[in-house]
Amino acid sequence: MQIEMNVSKTDLIIGNSPELMEVLRAADLVAVTDVAIMISGETGTGKDLLAKHIHRNSRRHDKPFITVNCAALPESLAESLLFGHLQGAFTGASSPRKGFIAEADGGTLLLDEIGEMPAAIQAKLLRFLESGEYQPLGMVDAQHADVRIIAATNSNLIDDVEAGSFRRDLYFRLNVVPLEVPALKNRTGDLAQLLQALNLKMSQEHNLDVPRYSSAAIAAMEKYDWPGNIRELRNFVERMLILFNGREIDVMNLPHEIHSRTKRADGSLFNLPSGGVDLESLEITLMNQALQASNGNKSRAARLLGLTRDTFLYRLKKYAI
Ligand SMILES: Nc1ncnc2c1ncn2[C@@H]1O[C@H](COP(=O)(O)OP(=O)(O)OP(=O)(O)O)[C@@H](O)[C@H]1O
Ligand SMILES: [Mg+2]
Repeated sequence: MQIEMNVSKTDLIIGNSPELMEVLRAADLVAVTDVAIMISGETGTGKDLLAKHIHRNSRRHDKPFITVNCAALPESLAESLLFGHLQGAFTGASSPRKGFIAEADGGTLLLDEIGEMPAAIQAKLLRFLESGEYQPLGMVDAQHADVRIIAATNSNLIDDVEAGSFRRDLYFRLNVVPLEVPALKNRTGDLAQLLQALNLKMSQEHNLDVPRYSSAAIAAMEKYDWPGNIRELRNFVERMLILFNGREIDVMNLPHEIHSRTKRADGSLFNLPSGGVDLESLEITLMNQALQASNGNKSRAARLLGLTRDTFLYRLKKYAI
């Protein structure tokens, strides 16, 4: 299970695209209130980062920020972990335990992957959201805690509601202020800024020199759809920094997945001339260009064309290149 108690002041949200700014504006407005917040967005878009940003900008900033990954909550222990228990409340409860709700008193509790919250706990969470009250296992009296709940999900929670695995009433209670963090591919202009900032940060961490990305490489990266979003970009930047320490990175140096998706995403890369083409000679030209661009390295040339090495070798033979 992932439990995090501290919010670093340096975890800044990079980017100034209008799409990101809109979410940040809404987040700042809601940060000063105590209402529950639902953050949705694809994996790696920065939901955790946004939750911490909200905590930092709330009256709760000097109180605990606790993250609980609901997907990692073992069903049999979930209630005790969240709400706590008294000694002897169940077999094995040899000492009393404070739950995360009590630990987060005065602060913020981030319930990550909320869609995975066990059904039995959903009703108890709803009660807490509505009244601020909860009952540790084995205790007769209700307890009170002052905790802002932030829920996060990378799935479409309404689908879970329709499927019956997530309570509709809890969904609406959490969804008072929905914040949707945009995917990286839908943010205008953030890629270049993130690239620069992440490069700078990681070059200092690794004591390496920032590589230079050619404009063609940046153009290819902008066309790529980054399914892992900023986490994927960060890992990519780190890999390229280590491999290219201070040198120039051109399109052909980019990983295969960035090429292949670039091609699919960019339907306008080739326009069929009205007079048509000779497909075979076009293929031969492209294969020659790929060989040139990769200095004769056949595996790399194959990658540039989105082919396996075997297919590429077969075609080389076929056209006697
Ligand atoms: N706008 C941003 N500026 C700088 N770093 C960012 C930004 N967004 C995300 N990151 C970084 O990308 C990584 C992933 O972010 P985070 O963990 O917040 O994503 P997430 O949406 O919670 O992902 P998941 O759905 O997988 O839990 C982290 O290292 C985070 O610091
Ligand atoms: Mg997360």
